[in-house]
Amino acid sequence: MNILIIGGAGYIGSHVTREFLDLGHRCTVYDNLSTGLRENLFPQARFIHGDIHDYPLLLAAMISGPHSPYDAIVHLAASKAAGESMLNPEKYSRNNISGTINILNAASAAGIQLFVFSSSAAVYGEPLYLPIDEKHPTNPENYYGFTKLEIERILEWYDKLKNIRFASLRYFNAAGYDIKGRIFGLEQNPANLLPIIMEAASGLRLELQIFGDDYDTPDGTCIRDYIHVNDLAAGHALALDYIAKNNKSLTVNLGSENGNSVKEVLETARKITGKEIPAKIAERRPGDPAKLTSSASLAFSLLNWKAKYSDMETLIKTSWTVYERSII
Ligand code: UFG
Repeated sequence: MNILIIGGAGYIGSHVTREFLDLGHRCTVYDNLSTGLRENLFPQARFIHGDIHDYPLLLAAMISGPHSPYDAIVHLAASKAAGESMLNPEKYSRNNISGTINILNAASAAGIQLFVFSSSAAVYGEPLYLPIDEKHPTNPENYYGFTKLEIERILEWYDKLKNIRFASLRYFNAAGYDIKGRIFGLEQNPANLLPIIMEAASGLRLELQIFGDDYDTPDGTCIRDYIHVNDLAAGHALALDYIAKNNKSLTVNLGSENGNSVKEVLETARKITGKEIPAKIAERRPGDPAKLTSSASLAFSLLNWKAKYSDMETLIKTSWTVYERSII
């Protein structure tokens, strides 16, 4: 297929682009490089340096970009720090909602009818039961999750009104780096646990702050479902295949179905890196549920997708291979 990957120079986007290229698709990456990196681009993909707020350029890319006509759009260009979204909702409204509406309207004008969307487990909010399946009520705790849910709802309408078939992929905690070691871009100012631990291990930051150790979990720290970015990438390709073949939209969780606490992640990282990784207990971060784990059985039954690389050792080993290079 001919695929336009918006946000394809980012951390998840570059892994997704790599997956589609490996499968023989023709890929154009559209990215404004605000958080994406030139070093995440591949010679086999074409690149358009563009912003999702630039509607004329977006439309031109869709209509006459290097691999046009495009069969599908994969949209991963968004702001993703849940904490920041509560302090600066305007940024999230603009990037995640207005930006996506621009993309959808351009896709509709260009006649592109397959759309893969990076959604998030943040749409669920505080869990009412575990593991979280797709039937779990959606009640986002943070504005970031709200923006993702809004787009899911808009997609339902564009499916009905414009025959755009979508796959909304509700990611749990994305982590790790390319299993074959082909991607090296470090996230700038990361807010997520794994890159922060890696920065502390490689001396790029002083220490990890553990946000609370008095949660109702066995060791008092929060439990999350970490999913390897290569597994996520494989999920995108399978989901696109599914909506194309079945002419039917799809909303699925992509998670490992495992839970690891912050302390477990830290201990595994200390073991694998051989570094001390200084850490101190800090205040709880507002809006953090004690425990989040996924049910990914829908992705398994519909897409035959299952996490392969999402054990904590692989997540940390593949990340450390990349971060170790930054030690001078
Ligand atoms: N944590 C720390 N210290 C840090 C960073 C994180 O203790 O410096 C803890 C958090 O409190 C949390 C866990 O590590 O308990 C994971 O935190 P992340 O910030 O890495 O991830 P979140 O679970 O908050 O959110 C992530 C993504 C969201 C996505 C969600 C889905 O950032 O976009 O997973 O589960 F929606």
